[in-house]
This record gives sequence, C-alpha cells and structure tokens, in this order.
Amino acid sequence: MKKLLLSILLSSITIQGFSQGNVYKQGSGKFEGLAMTPPMGWNSWNTFETNIDEKLVKETADIMVSSGMLAAGYNYIVLDDGWMSKNRDIEGNLVPDTIKFPSGMKSLIEYVHSKGLKFGLYNCAGTHTCAGYPGTRGYEYQDARFYANLGIDFLKYDWCNTAGINAPEAYATMSNALKTAGRPIVFSLCEWGDNKVWEWGKPIGNLWRISGDIYPCFDCEFHHEEGNWSSWGFMKIAEMRKDIRKYSGPDHWNDFDMMEVGDGMTNTEDKTHFAMWCMLSSPLIAGNDLRKMSKETLAVLTNKELISIDQDKLGIQGFKLSAEEGLEVWVKPLSDGAWAITFLNRTDAPKKINFDWKKNPIKDTDFGFEADFNKITFKIKDLWKNKEAGTTKKNFTADIASHDVITLILIP
Ligand code: GAL
Repeated sequence: MKKLLLSILLSSITIQGFSQGNVYKQGSGKFEGLAMTPPMGWNSWNTFETNIDEKLVKETADIMVSSGMLAAGYNYIVLDDGWMSKNRDIEGNLVPDTIKFPSGMKSLIEYVHSKGLKFGLYNCAGTHTCAGYPGTRGYEYQDARFYANLGIDFLKYDWCNTAGINAPEAYATMSNALKTAGRPIVFSLCEWGDNKVWEWGKPIGNLWRISGDIYPCFDCEFHHEEGNWSSWGFMKIAEMRKDIRKYSGPDHWNDFDMMEVGDGMTNTEDKTHFAMWCMLSSPLIAGNDLRKMSKETLAVLTNKELISIDQDKLGIQGFKLSAEEGLEVWVKPLSDGAWAITFLNRTDAPKKINFDWKKNPIKDTDFGFEADFNKITFKIKDLWKNKEAGTTKKNFTADIASHDVITLILIP
C-alpha cells in the first residue's frame, strides 16, 4: 500500500513537471561535466551495422590500446544497434544477445574497462530501435537502471519509431532516468536535428547529432530507395545546419556523426574529413574496422596537432570565413588567443593559395573573438607538415591538391 501511494505521488510530480512545461524537474538535469571536450572513441555502426560480437569488441579494445589510439584520446567503445535480443525478458528487462555475446555483456564491459577504456551502448526513444530491437519507450527508468548495473559510461539514444512522441520530453525523461539511476553516463542524443535539438538539448545531454547518417564520400548524397532516406557525404554534413555553432560548447556538443576515415575514401579525403571534424569541435568517434586499418588511416586519426584543435579547452566550433572559386578558408578561435585556419580545396583540380592576412581580418560575431592581422602578427605552424611556416606579415602561399586541406595554427 505504502509503495502504491509513493508511486502515485511520484507520478503526479512528473506529470505536474511536464504540464508546467518544465521537463527537467525530476532527475534535475544531466550529469554535468562528463564531456568538457568533445568525446573521442569508436562506434561499431559505420562498418559493422548489426554484425557485432564479443570477439570484435575485444579485438577493437586491444587495438585501441596497442595502436596508440587510446593514448591519443580515443577512450570510448560504443556498441551501436544490434547488441540486444529481439525481445525483453518476462520482467521487461533488455536482454543482450547471448549468441553474439556468449560471455555476457557485463564480463565484456569489465574486459573493456580493464584496458583503461570506457564502454557505451545504444538504444532508441521509440518503441523499437531502427534495426527492430526493443526500444526504450515506457521502460526509461528500468533501462537506465539496467545500464547503471551493467556499468556503461555512454548511451547513444536514437529516434526511430517515435510517431507521436515529443522529442524534448522523451530525451528529458531518459536523461532524468539516467540521473536517477545514479551512474554518470554520457548521454548522446541522436534525433538527427529533426526537432532542433541544439535549442533544448543542453540541460539534457552532453552531445547531439545534427544530421542524418554520414556516408563515406566527399559531398555526395546517397539515397536509400528502401525507406526513402538519404545519407550524406562529410562536407554535406559539415554545412547542413546554418547558424548552430553558437549552441555548441563544453559538455553540449554539436555532433557531426561518427567518422568515415578509413572507410573507402582517398587518404586525402580522409585527411580533409578529419580536419573538418576537428575545426567543427565535433566528437571524434572512429567508425572504421581498426583491425584492418592502414598506417595512413591511423596517422590521420591520431594526428596530435589536429586533435588538440578539436579538444581545445575553449570548445568553440569553427566557421567558414570565405570561399572563392572553390578555395575555402575555415577558422576556429582557440584558447590563449590562437587560431586554427584550414584552407580547403573543394574543386576537382589543384589550386594555388596566395592569402593576404592583412586583407582578411577574422571576426567571430557569435562568440566575440577577432584577429586583425594589421594590428597583431601571428607565428604560423603547418599542422600536417608539423613545420613552422613564417608569420602573418607575409602572404601565405602554397599549392593545394583537389579535395585537400592545409591546416595551420596561428600563435600570437
Ligand atoms: C540511425 C543512426 C545511426 C545508427 C543507426 C542504427 O538512426 O543515425 O548512427 O545508430 O540508426 O540503426
């Protein structure tokens, strides 16, 4: 009886919270401070879709350590869709697939943790996940307790099969459930930007997808006839949403999707993709098969200088300063008055850069930073060559290949 009264009381508090338009009351907001720089790691989806198992996870964990990826900052392994059985058990609990994970999810997570890595899982706010496994709708608190008991550190929460559900409320409910379950878990909102998550996601989650799925190409659109949806080349995603950079920052990142570095583009395009994700302060979640990765792919993913741009503590997303005949200039304010600059050749032919700093002052109207090269001289370092490259007193000149980037750091 006591229990019944308590649960009636609790549910009336929740309902009241929602009816007043205050969806954050019950669990009092996300776990703060879990992602002060963009999260880095690996996710199974881009390469393996639902073909995942414990051997793959263990081998991936081992390589993350032995390849130097963990040392470079990649510390999350996230299992995407496909880790569950098709049905919940009779008590309504999620059931990890025992054929794919014969030793059990808990022991796999312990293995990953023993390597110094963190572990994440995936589910959906809807009735089913996108691949048809049990979704969390109506089971939020039970699933949050399940994840906390398993010991996960990251939850990606997707948006399939959600007809009739209100996005801010659905994500707030899961955020509250995680908070109430008590284990700090990074909460990754994956509603693809359909409901402008950047406008309401900050008190709820630590990062949020801003687009539909990525596709391993420079700027193509890949249309899936079945289901009538598209996935997008990395430049399409980089430019899909206008005016959202002001919503991104420490502990609440715009997420441009898992990377396709090492998934079939040229090494030049991989390099450009990686540079753009760093310029955009995107989470850096690799999506390639680490067991088959080439030296070139590993070198792109672990470029320390580029990673330090992504992970800069100021946490400000970069933006496009100019575009002239397919030669673009992207800029990103960094801590201590420095700037990252990326020249990008969008065209199919090589180009010559001759950039007069003095004629190109930078003004960041969203965050109030500026660089006037008539007043301050910066030292330049080329981050891909790892070499000094003069100062901003002289024009910057270089050849740049098709689809390539040159990334510089300017130090005052
Ligand atoms: C999509 C999501 C992908 C992947 C997939 C799994 O909605 O954007 O990143 O998680 O679902 O089914």
